[in-house]
Amino acid sequence: MCGIVGFTGSRKAAPILLKGLTRLEYRGYDSAGIAVLHDGAIEVDKVSGRIAKLSEKTKDGSLVPGVIGIGHTRWATHGAPTDINAHPHLSNDGKFAVVHNGIIENYLALREELIADGYVFQSETDTETIVHLLEMYYTGDIKSAVMKTASRLEGSYALGIVSTDAPETLFVVRESSPLILGIGVGENYFASDVTALVAHTKNVIYMEDGEIAELSPNAISVYDCTGQKITKPVSRVTWNVEAAEKGGYDHFMLKEIMEQPAAVKAALAPRIHEGQIRLDDFELTAEDLKDVRKIIITACGSAYYAGCSGRYVIERLCRIPVEVELASELRYADPMVDEHTLVLVISQSGETADTIAALKECRSRGAKIIGIVNVVGSTIAKLADYTLYTWAGPEIAVATTKGFTTQLAVLYLFAVYAAEKLGRLSPEKYDSLIRQLMNLPKRIQEAIDMNYQIPSVASRYASQSLFFIGRNTDYAIALEGALKMKEISYLHAESYAAGELKHGTIALIDENQPVIAVCCNEVLADKTLSNIVEVKARGAKVLALAFRGNTKIVSQADDVIFIPRVDAVFSAILAVVPLQLLAYYAAKEKGCDIDKPKNLAKSVTVE
Ligand code: M6R
Repeated sequence: MCGIVGFTGSRKAAPILLKGLTRLEYRGYDSAGIAVLHDGAIEVDKVSGRIAKLSEKTKDGSLVPGVIGIGHTRWATHGAPTDINAHPHLSNDGKFAVVHNGIIENYLALREELIADGYVFQSETDTETIVHLLEMYYTGDIKSAVMKTASRLEGSYALGIVSTDAPETLFVVRESSPLILGIGVGENYFASDVTALVAHTKNVIYMEDGEIAELSPNAISVYDCTGQKITKPVSRVTWNVEAAEKGGYDHFMLKEIMEQPAAVKAALAPRIHEGQIRLDDFELTAEDLKDVRKIIITACGSAYYAGCSGRYVIERLCRIPVEVELASELRYADPMVDEHTLVLVISQSGETADTIAALKECRSRGAKIIGIVNVVGSTIAKLADYTLYTWAGPEIAVATTKGFTTQLAVLYLFAVYAAEKLGRLSPEKYDSLIRQLMNLPKRIQEAIDMNYQIPSVASRYASQSLFFIGRNTDYAIALEGALKMKEISYLHAESYAAGELKHGTIALIDENQPVIAVCCNEVLADKTLSNIVEVKARGAKVLALAFRGNTKIVSQADDVIFIPRVDAVFSAILAVVPLQLLAYYAAKEKGCDIDKPKNLAKSVTVE
């Protein structure tokens, strides 16, 4: 949940580290620090709060001399977000500084052992144990000290290390936390995410678990966990630095909402050739699919809601039973999974700890795993048997938008592909679904364009508490709409299956309780309409979301947001867009920090 960067070269390190950290700030933003080596000593600057505060303190890094260093932006796990708990942490002899993304699970035992050996701790962090272990194991060979230290650590870590005894060389090691090396000309880098590297280089090396690397300005050497040198492939990043910038928008979230037509097109178009779906990434035969007795979709947060929505589509088109499970529950549920189960693991970041654990749990029971992932080279992409990338490009805002809609797009593709293979679709139906899929990017653009009034609607509905209701795929989107509202505007928002209201929740409905009714599933629209009438009878103000041309809804709801008409199976990908905008403008009205909501971080790499 933290971001780490490192630089070695002949340019001043601190400004490069600060810029890199700014790009990683979405990963955690409660404190930050850098450590730069100069004249044989490590200078550490760290602050509680945002990178901007650190930049101010160091005058954008200009006050810090030195051409090699490491940096960190933190999402606190062990110890409050104070200056002292901020990374980097220094060894007692001042020879090592360490930045760490991850969690050391056995840190208490290590801490006791190190204190007994005379090491003095400054912070409450798990990370500080690492730097004292390095000092303890160091006898002149840093790589060997890193290997010995790593062998004592339980949990997850990507470590960046600088040492006074290696004035040009950075050391890194990874286990279950992302770590990428950037190859420059006469300079090299490491970071938690390529977004921190693309301004300097597009040539990167993805580190695997257990690997260690040494980076000097002109060379990168990678070793396996036994210390043997290995050759790693160099990958090319396909997007430009502009993709990770705001490009004139006030917030990344708004930019990413607006990018959805292009992102969904990038997810769909390359996989549809001459009216046929071809999963470039892999192929499932009819026999493979006939062997599947059930599908489990597992994920967290919005990715889970994408799964809830995808379930209806897969069941409807393929007639295979689908269960959608929160990864944090599935991992401990002793799940009924075997070799006849196909598991779809959905994750934008590909690094969510609970989702990874659920994947491993299902894999250990013989299931085949398809990862639906955005971040290339991420842990889930590597662990899955097959990966369907969502190709959304970098998503920086903590609240996911294009990450979510591209997950839906890939789920739709999968559903139509599998249904066709299983012989569940007539050629006419298949052609019609393919045409509609191809048109979704345009329809999403229309859903954005026709809803220019949302800022004023948001200001009328952004009250202390909101209910979102819907049925079937509309319910899944109501869940996502409520989550979006909560996470960025801090308004209380609850989502209910519309038919459930009368089983208790309706007791809360009165004139102070606005209801947002998602009513796009035409088969069930009349049923949801009845629920709208029920809440209106109890005084609620109702904002409905419906297909263009739905005249019935206009007579019942107080306000209506329309989206273009599509086949009901694909309505969710359009319906969610106005709800994203509604949450965005409600949060803007309240003056919230939209891209970095309080207490959150983009990728949740802790349990
Ligand atoms: O990276 P992932 O898709 O695995 O992340 C899962 C959730 O943490 C994520 O969707 C979260 O709920 C978002 N902040 C919601 O906007």
